[in-house]
Amino acid sequence: MSVSPLSRLKEVAVSGRYSPKENFSISWQSPSNIALVKYWGKKSGQLPATPSLSMTLDKARTTTRVDVAFDAPRKGLLSVNGDPDHPFLPKMQMLFDWLSCGIPALNGITLHAVTSNSFPHSTGIASSASGISAFALCLLTISCRILNLELSGDELMHMASYAARIGSGSACRSLFAGYAVWGETSCLSGTSDEFAISSAAFVHPDMLTLHDAILVISGKPKSLPSTQGHQSMEGHPFFSNRIIQAGQHLEEALRALSANDFEKLCSVAEREALTLHALMMSANPGTLLMKPSTVEVIGLVRDGRKNGLPLFFTLDAGANVHVMYPDASSAEVEKYISEVLKPLCEDGRVIFDRCGSGPVMLNEPMPSHDCFSS
Ligand code: DP6
Repeated sequence: MSVSPLSRLKEVAVSGRYSPKENFSISWQSPSNIALVKYWGKKSGQLPATPSLSMTLDKARTTTRVDVAFDAPRKGLLSVNGDPDHPFLPKMQMLFDWLSCGIPALNGITLHAVTSNSFPHSTGIASSASGISAFALCLLTISCRILNLELSGDELMHMASYAARIGSGSACRSLFAGYAVWGETSCLSGTSDEFAISSAAFVHPDMLTLHDAILVISGKPKSLPSTQGHQSMEGHPFFSNRIIQAGQHLEEALRALSANDFEKLCSVAEREALTLHALMMSANPGTLLMKPSTVEVIGLVRDGRKNGLPLFFTLDAGANVHVMYPDASSAEVEKYISEVLKPLCEDGRVIFDRCGSGPVMLNEPMPSHDCFSS
């Protein structure tokens, strides 16, 4: 994209063509994502220390509505789900403050957000990725509306990725269908530390059919918030090698995705997952997030593969295991999951999801969601 749409928005914002209008609401639904090459460690300015690659999920989504008022006495982002101290508010506030520096009109309105997830808490699905990306889309759509600016869908997603990163790094990858890459890398053109880019140009269509079954080993909240985890990479004895390794893994994963080489993807994704945990364990203080059942499931995933099933695992910063497999083999892999892996899950909980097609704007009032745990 030659001219940054964010600059266009800011230009319009400072030219003062904005006039208060009637109150309105904007709703977006945005998915979570699971990283195959992990973002772990930051540079200053909420920039990643390494490039990362993720698959966008389909069913694991956050729906967010933002109600905008021009006539209320207090301005700014005041509440989430009616709560002025909602735990999600600080990240949303960070994004709002950052955006309103460039778009002063945002400071003249009152916002209340209402948000809900289609998935249960603490199950290994990143609600900050879906929640912050949905909120970024709401804020940008609101900005365009009050500034009378029209953007193409691609421009909006590009800008939302840029903005979402400020609230939560992994959120910037949730704006795109299929797979997304965040972080500058010489092995792919157009990449940046400031926003993620879509995978459309490089992924083999069969790779867009991948399923992700999330095996809930523990439903307890994470003992290591990711912000703290990123910080623990500062001065970490292995981190300089990790930076080199992440670049190599990204290249390997991109080759696997474009060549539809499932075996290569298994190999690199599993090494990435175990590296993430090895980095956490060897930090000071170190954190061990895997549970005995996590290790058992990993062994059984590998046994299944030795016996001919096409599946691999990845892990987030937690005990739960993401098991990934192609659509063409979903019946046999899901049978294996139900019979062999599910008994190791807390209360037999498995959440079935798959590669998804990105955010959608909702024109209807925000619907309520059911969890899709089975
Ligand atoms: C292990 O995006 O949650 O899930 O930028 O501080 O909000 P902040 O961190 P966050 O970190 C995600 C870490 C990870 C790996 C990944 O998604 O790439």
